[in-house]
Amino acid sequence: MAKTANKPAKAAKPLPAVADLTKAQAKVEHKRLALEIETNDRLYHQEDAPKITDAAYDALRQRFNAIEARFPEFVSAESPSQKVGAVPSGKFKKVRHALPMLSLDNAFAEEHVRDFVGRIERFLKLKDEEIAFSAEPKIDGLSMSLRYEGGELVTAATRGDGAEGEDVTANIRTLKDVPQKLKGRKVPAICEVRGEVYMTKQAFLALNERQKAEGGTIFANPRNSAAGSLRQKDSSITASRPLGFFAYAWGEMSEMPEATQTGMIHWFERCGFHTNPLTKLCRSVDELLAFHHRIEEQRAKLDYDIDGVVYKVDRIDWQQRLGFVSRTPRWGLAHKFPAERAMTVLRDIEIQVGRTGSFTPVGKLEPVGVGGVIVQNVTLHNEDYIKGIGGDGEPLREGRDIRIGDTVVVQRAGDVIPQIVDVVIDKRPKDAKEFHFPKKCPCSLHTDVVREETATGEEGARARCTGEFACPYQKIEHLKLFCSRRAFDIEGLGEKQIAYFFEQGIVKEPADIFTLAARNAKIKLEEIEGYGETSVKNLFNAIEERRRIALERFIYALGMRHVGETTALALARGYGSWQAFHDAGLKVADGDEESMADMDALDQIGDTVIKSVGAYFGESHNRGIVERLTKQVTILDAEKPKSNSAIAGKTVVFTGSLEKMTRDEAKATAERLGAKVSGSVSKKTDYVVAGPGAGSKLAEAQKHGVSVLTEDEWLRLIGE
Ligand code: IVH
Repeated sequence: MAKTANKPAKAAKPLPAVADLTKAQAKVEHKRLALEIETNDRLYHQEDAPKITDAAYDALRQRFNAIEARFPEFVSAESPSQKVGAVPSGKFKKVRHALPMLSLDNAFAEEHVRDFVGRIERFLKLKDEEIAFSAEPKIDGLSMSLRYEGGELVTAATRGDGAEGEDVTANIRTLKDVPQKLKGRKVPAICEVRGEVYMTKQAFLALNERQKAEGGTIFANPRNSAAGSLRQKDSSITASRPLGFFAYAWGEMSEMPEATQTGMIHWFERCGFHTNPLTKLCRSVDELLAFHHRIEEQRAKLDYDIDGVVYKVDRIDWQQRLGFVSRTPRWGLAHKFPAERAMTVLRDIEIQVGRTGSFTPVGKLEPVGVGGVIVQNVTLHNEDYIKGIGGDGEPLREGRDIRIGDTVVVQRAGDVIPQIVDVVIDKRPKDAKEFHFPKKCPCSLHTDVVREETATGEEGARARCTGEFACPYQKIEHLKLFCSRRAFDIEGLGEKQIAYFFEQGIVKEPADIFTLAARNAKIKLEEIEGYGETSVKNLFNAIEERRRIALERFIYALGMRHVGETTALALARGYGSWQAFHDAGLKVADGDEESMADMDALDQIGDTVIKSVGAYFGESHNRGIVERLTKQVTILDAEKPKSNSAIAGKTVVFTGSLEKMTRDEAKATAERLGAKVSGSVSKKTDYVVAGPGAGSKLAEAQKHGVSVLTEDEWLRLIGE
């Protein structure tokens, strides 16, 4: 990487050769170098303010790589070596996907696959028609969207957060599996071909051998090596790495050349792509399960990593009718292979305090490889889990508790966080230590810890600091969420900087971030170690850029419990403006029934969220934070779902039985066209669609003078 630096590295004592280090010495140095590399990466990439020369940085990397090459067991998913080239976004241009890149729901058990198929059958309400599925291996690589205009490749983008990815066109052009020009005389003017970039297992092993010999980066698994190879600033490095591409999906298409998923796969082949040869058309659940079984048997022999199989409804018109729930399609499912397990020793247990003050015990493990990834931290959930008591009070692991020093069985399934599933009692050493859950918060206030109440008023398993808003850990965690990528996304305000600013009293709550520049004459950030004039200027610019913020991001950034990104989006779309949401929040906090019912009528919002929003606005401390913050920022109204349908923005209630479609499909169609579907009739309802058997809701509609439609009238209204 090309670096410009303002200071040469400090002269240091010569270090012993890596070959002469003992394992223990190497481990200490590996950790120190990892920290140093991370700090310099941050200074260079995020703050554009390198503190060491290119040569000094390369020397750090080389020594670090040499240690990992000699002790590959030190390589973990968190190691900086795994992030080589995974330059923090900002270095690659961002690309907004014409259609979002979403993901699939995961299933592990056979019943889930049966439920999936059953749900589709009910949703489509088919009469004796068979549903065929395309069954495909689930490639464990990186998803990629390739945009062709007039048949020519114009952009290649990574998935990113699904809405926006990174522009890796120059690197993708070096892959021989990706045609620069689509074959065939008549291809649609716009074609977005999606699929997976992967590295074969053989190429991965050979690359690691080469890297080991040259003191280069050692990768933990083929997926990481594919990611590292692709996200290089220098595309000649990508060109030297053997990457493959399988096409299996599409994004924007100006015209659909085929009517089925399997038809599209054959079309991709005609255009010059590779597609997975194991793909098969299946006509029943049993055929899907047999496919899963067969592919699992072949898994070890395949030359590329797969982590399950994917089922997709073959007919594209049915896929369109089925649509999406939140961020996953109803028409597709990833059926994963069972979790992989390994044994290791639990070295320690630490407590992490979260944004809402909840305590999570984290197990520190002797690093172990599970399913191709090195695991060294596992969540231990709560005090009861460690003691061997399950959520329902029943024994967990047949009642075996977890002690420090125990040999434990660790399990990891796909992207799921690793878990301890058992303790090997025969291997328990005499000096294994029981873990005593802290009674006080580890923060400077040493406040008492209580166990949360459950919804039924009993003592729950989760421990929480009682420091509430005074607990510094909670404040720091909230600030971290506030600045994170999916909230305010303030570049240059990473977790370490936030913790530092908080400890120095520079930023104590979100509004302080926006007054930093004005207060800097006193603070003098540029004089703080690690900062320079350029980095301070960049930081202030990044903050300024975020003074205008989308409503959904703003709601998410407030950090209300149970309000994640999807819920924040649902609230933003439901209320449209900050003013409307804020007013509703205050009324809900006051227990106003009508406001609660209105919130309840919003898609994806239920009791838990309503209670949480009410609790948030009921706290004067929170109201203060919000008041000071809203003076600093401009909150943009939410984009209403684009629709020119007659029902866009209207509230609809379905009652009685429908004959041409299921209630689920009717609801999904109405929402897709921009309507709000409610469960109860009020004076705000625009239409009640009543089928045979409609009862009290019909009477309510008549009482409020709401238009009542038959199913056919409804279908005419929406033009279907
Ligand atoms: S279809 C709406 N097909 O698995 C999502 N995905 O969670 C359409 N993947 O992000 C994706 N093999 O990276 C699809 N044959 C396949 C796949 C596949 C691997 C990955 C992909 C996606 C994730 C789905």
